Amino acid sequence: MSARIAVIGSCNTDMVVRLPHLPVPGETVLGGTFLIAHGGKGANQAVAAARAGGTVAFIGRVGDDAFGREARSALEKEGIDVSHLLIDPAAPSGVALITVDARGENAIAVAPGANARLTPDDVQQARDLIAGADILVAQLEVPVETIRAAAVVAASAGVLMMLNPAPASPLDDDLLRNIAVLTPNEKEAALLSGVPVNDDNGIIAAAEALRKRGVQRVILTLGERGIYFNDGILHVWMPAFHVRAVDTTAAGDVFTGAFAVALGEHQAPIDAARFACAASAISVTRPGAQPSAPHRSEIESLLSD
Ligand code: RIB
Repeated sequence: MSARIAVIGSCNTDMVVRLPHLPVPGETVLGGTFLIAHGGKGANQAVAAARAGGTVAFIGRVGDDAFGREARSALEKEGIDVSHLLIDPAAPSGVALITVDARGENAIAVAPGANARLTPDDVQQARDLIAGADILVAQLEVPVETIRAAAVVAASAGVLMMLNPAPASPLDDDLLRNIAVLTPNEKEAALLSGVPVNDDNGIIAAAEALRKRGVQRVILTLGERGIYFNDGILHVWMPAFHVRAVDTTAAGDVFTGAFAVALGEHQAPIDAARFACAASAISVTRPGAQPSAPHRSEIESLLSD
């Protein structure tokens, strides 16, 4: 049986401009190309999980507008259950303005719109859905009190929770204690742990600090360096697959969604991490957030190479 994944989080429309370099304040950079793509960290993770082989349901809010309708229908086309993707008449759908440079690095500005109106009450309405999942996946583009409510529901139902703490925000120990898998990048790990992450020792110390605060398993995503995995027993540096990056947008989302599926299938956590590294490596070779998420066959093919 495929892994049952519930994802709670944001759903955006991404306006992406690819440029020779990212503009600095006050600078206009010409020579770009433009792409509109479905995005939002939550929706990206849901799509990544569905394409990786999971049975996925999404909990979120979009506005009653064209972006919201298109985003919803794109998720439906992936086979994702959108019965708890609410349409909010009082706010526009979330939008992200993204610039991507020639090396594939990005800068992102988000207007959350309806995402910011996802409430703990919406979580209560989705209780049964969360309780029926193998893994609950969340990020921080919706209010943290909503994520906290989801963590309580997941914990009381015995459902493992994965949190991708992006964008970075301080979190209390009560929430961290309910997190089975945390997937920060270096900046997020530094902010959450209070430990400067400037080198390998900083990475290890930040992961240890987060584990001391109650997280069971910390996986730091390190971009082209790969990941650092720490569950208190295994401490593993896993190199990234070598690929030519054109757009790193959503690489962390794809990692998180794919890892959730593999873990939900009861793969060993370290195998799940390799599966997720392969998925995110493929995603950076393609432009856009959701368009870049690979299908299971592509992930397996890279793993068997
Ligand atoms: O992680 C990438 C995502 O961040 C983009 O799709 C954008 O919508 C922002 O949410």
